[in-house]
Amino acid sequence: MPGAAAAVRTDEVVVLDYGGQYSQLIARRIRECGVFTELLPHHAGPKEVARRHPKGLILSGGPASVYGEGAPPLDPEVLELGIPVLGICYGMQLLARELGGRVEAAEKGEFGRSALAVREPGRLLAGTPPEQTCWMSHRDIVFTPPPGFEALASSSVSPVAAFQSVARGVYGIQFHPEVVHTPYGRHVLTNFLEDVCGCERSWSPRSVIDDQIERIREQVGDGHAICGLSGGVDSSVAALLVHRAIGDRLTCVFVDHGLMRKNEGAQVIAAFRDHFQVPLVAVDASERFLARLHGVTDPERKRKLIGAEFIRVFAEQAAKLENADFLVQGTLYSDVIESGGESSSGAATIKSHHNVGGLPEELPFALVEPLRTLFKDEVRAVGAELGLPERLVWRQPFPGPGLAIRIVGGEATRERLEILREADSILQREIREAGLYRELWQSFCVLPDIRTVGVQGDSRTYGNVIVIRAVTSDDAMTADWARLPYDLLERIASRMIGEIRPVGRVVLDITSKPPGTIEWE
Ligand code: XMP
Repeated sequence: MPGAAAAVRTDEVVVLDYGGQYSQLIARRIRECGVFTELLPHHAGPKEVARRHPKGLILSGGPASVYGEGAPPLDPEVLELGIPVLGICYGMQLLARELGGRVEAAEKGEFGRSALAVREPGRLLAGTPPEQTCWMSHRDIVFTPPPGFEALASSSVSPVAAFQSVARGVYGIQFHPEVVHTPYGRHVLTNFLEDVCGCERSWSPRSVIDDQIERIREQVGDGHAICGLSGGVDSSVAALLVHRAIGDRLTCVFVDHGLMRKNEGAQVIAAFRDHFQVPLVAVDASERFLARLHGVTDPERKRKLIGAEFIRVFAEQAAKLENADFLVQGTLYSDVIESGGESSSGAATIKSHHNVGGLPEELPFALVEPLRTLFKDEVRAVGAELGLPERLVWRQPFPGPGLAIRIVGGEATRERLEILREADSILQREIREAGLYRELWQSFCVLPDIRTVGVQGDSRTYGNVIVIRAVTSDDAMTADWARLPYDLLERIASRMIGEIRPVGRVVLDITSKPPGTIEWE
């Protein structure tokens, strides 16, 4: 497993996830401090933890009360591994209870900003001021630290807001150091990582590159690999890493299904074939896809047909590359965590059904997944480091079935795709020129299958409607409609109507998610 071996090369800290809303954030902050970390489910057990040879262990926060029925427990054996342990919020309460301190449920919890009074900085709070603010989110309260522990700080609600036992190597904080509302949070985490655990802060996107190249070489040996490029950042970065590792023994396959945005296919080909000189098979399969989509209006049927056709085209190309034994996939760490983590079945994670690039497991390949330990923003950093063009590094997510699912309530015909592609191209260009592209999670156009009346010159028109959809989001689970400036919207609308003859009306979607979804179908 990638995580296990990573510990051999760079220092690692393991976070046991007790289900807190900030658990992933803890992992990200630790990596920002230059230390590699993996998030394991709280029940991973001492063997899984020890296998990674971590220099420290963090128990995250979680929604449960330590006294609640079915509250996730602490396996006392993880405290016997001989590595320093830091409990955060629920993690601290678990430690307190396990080791003989007094934790009690309080009627009123402590939520939001709190004033922290530091009595004795100890190792965790060293170098931070005696009075500081922090972010709290808990109901149970630690009243007395376990025997042999020192209480380091308190707040108006929490008599023991931080504790330590240097002899046992066990530390706890009630507040959340990972959120920005705890101004000294990063300092506290650094104290734990550096001073308590003795971690070398050498992890970075740069170190990932060298490490992964070595790892890919080990895995592939003198074999050959194949990679489906979609134009998205994940597959692009995965392909570049593998190309660095095994050179022209990697062949990329780019299937143009004719449902891409304007010039997108050409950009992928220019970057990979011309610039990076990666062996690339580009298949123009748009006729095949359009034929499959003929007469289809139901969105789920569109998705299924496109997915199935994609696999057919990809498999045909793969069959021509006789000696390819390995398939490169841009699986990200968030996909691994969402599917239950490394410690579940250990089976290869194929990206969700959502993704047209998700290939069936029965394809006769071993998987190479060089991004399996990385968060999305780290993948972008690796991409930038590898010289991937800015346009590809920062590309907004784009659905596998492409523009087909943005023609709503009707068939994705060549003519409609052309209208949508032109409208989308105007939107993208204007948003980029306004400097807003990176601020938006996604920006795109939708073409509903309706006509509305208009008047242009002296005559009535009966034109298509273009919907502008632009959202901000962190993870697509929730999203807010983007407040694009009025003058930008006006420019976009008048360009669309002026430059695309069949377009007669432009509207703006102001629905958040929930209750809406980001896409219209
Ligand atoms: P919704 O519309 O469910 O979208 O709010 C959430 C995220 O998923 C993307 N999406 C898709 N991606 N194939 C994909 O690869 C699909 O069929 C698909 N449908 C939605 C959407 O663009 C957004 O980022």
